Amino acid sequence: MEKKILVLIIVIIAIIIIGCLIYQNNIKSEMGNEMKMQNIITNSNNSPKEFNFETKTVTLNSGYEMPLNGIGTYSLTGDICYDSIISALNSGVRLIDTAYMYNNEEEVGRAIRDSGIPREEIFVITKIYPSQFDNPEEAIEMALRKLDIGYIDMMLLHHPGTNDVKAYKAMEKYVQQGKIHSIGLSNWYIEELEEFLPQIEIMPALVQNEIHPYYQELDVVPYIQNKGIVMQGWYPFGGRGYTSELLNDETIVEISNAHNVTSAQVILRWNLQRGIVVIPGSSNPEHIKENTQIYDFELTDEEMKKIEELNRNEKHDWY
Ligand SMILES: NC(=O)c1ccc[n+]([C@@H]2O[C@H](COP(=O)([O-])OP(=O)(O)OC[C@H]3O[C@@H](n4cnc5c(N)ncnc54)[C@H](OP(=O)(O)O)[C@@H]3O)[C@@H](O)[C@H]2O)c1
Repeated sequence: MEKKILVLIIVIIAIIIIGCLIYQNNIKSEMGNEMKMQNIITNSNNSPKEFNFETKTVTLNSGYEMPLNGIGTYSLTGDICYDSIISALNSGVRLIDTAYMYNNEEEVGRAIRDSGIPREEIFVITKIYPSQFDNPEEAIEMALRKLDIGYIDMMLLHHPGTNDVKAYKAMEKYVQQGKIHSIGLSNWYIEELEEFLPQIEIMPALVQNEIHPYYQELDVVPYIQNKGIVMQGWYPFGGRGYTSELLNDETIVEISNAHNVTSAQVILRWNLQRGIVVIPGSSNPEHIKENTQIYDFELTDEEMKKIEELNRNEKHDWY
């Protein structure tokens, strides 16, 4: 009889211990899921990011700080690219936009290394192209190797395309390894984002799209900003072949005269006041310098409205 009671007690204790272990495991996995959800939720429910006009930076949803104005390097290659980057860095520019497709990551990296400016003071964006999406790890490794600056501040998918989710997930892995700090998208609009975002873990920190006074993306910009994603504009002056029309636009010229600045500066300032980061392209040291001098004047609401009225939904490139 005593033996039977002893066995019963042992069985009861064993059941209690097993029960406790199962409970603990459930709690742990629930906590894990919750933390993961928090990560996604914190990122996705953020309000528009504030631009700090004192530091001339914005803090991204990844926690990293990015300058509000930079230099774009599309169509700048070889020595022209190298010299433009050196010139930009000497003018105080600390944000550089490049891409695999621009065929100049090596020159950008070399200029940064030669500049003597501490690496962590410079923010470099590069992009991988849809033709690379089927082997994204190789593409990312290539960008790291070509730039040769230790880590990449921001990597974007250059366009939507086959395997873009796979490529984004590869970038997410590199974020976890610390080799890429922040990730984002380029040429994604509302429809594409609606489809893409539910399939990924890390909310994009940045979306880079065509934006200029003739193509303003009036619906896309607030949609993206309200997700806590920073918006960046390409072709701020309309892109090569279109700059003269835009820089000589009557309304822009009138506003620039009122502030004693150039048309280029008015357009860049208009972007900043809409919460859009600017990356004008230039190989002209005077233009590069001029494009940084956009913090000492402010456009009025009326001037902002006048520029908004210039919108023609006129895209200057196919994507
Ligand atoms: N994600 C994408 O799909 C995508 C697509 C296109 C471009 N982008 C990025 O966006 C950047 C900007 O676009 P972009 O460079 O092609 O076009 P942009 O910035 O609209 O225009 C560049 C042109 O403007 C001139 N310019 C620059 N500053 C000026 C100033 N202060 N006064 C007068 N003219 C001035 C430049 O000539 P000078 O050299 O003589 O100054 C150049 O010819 C690119 O460099 C690239 O990084 C991204």
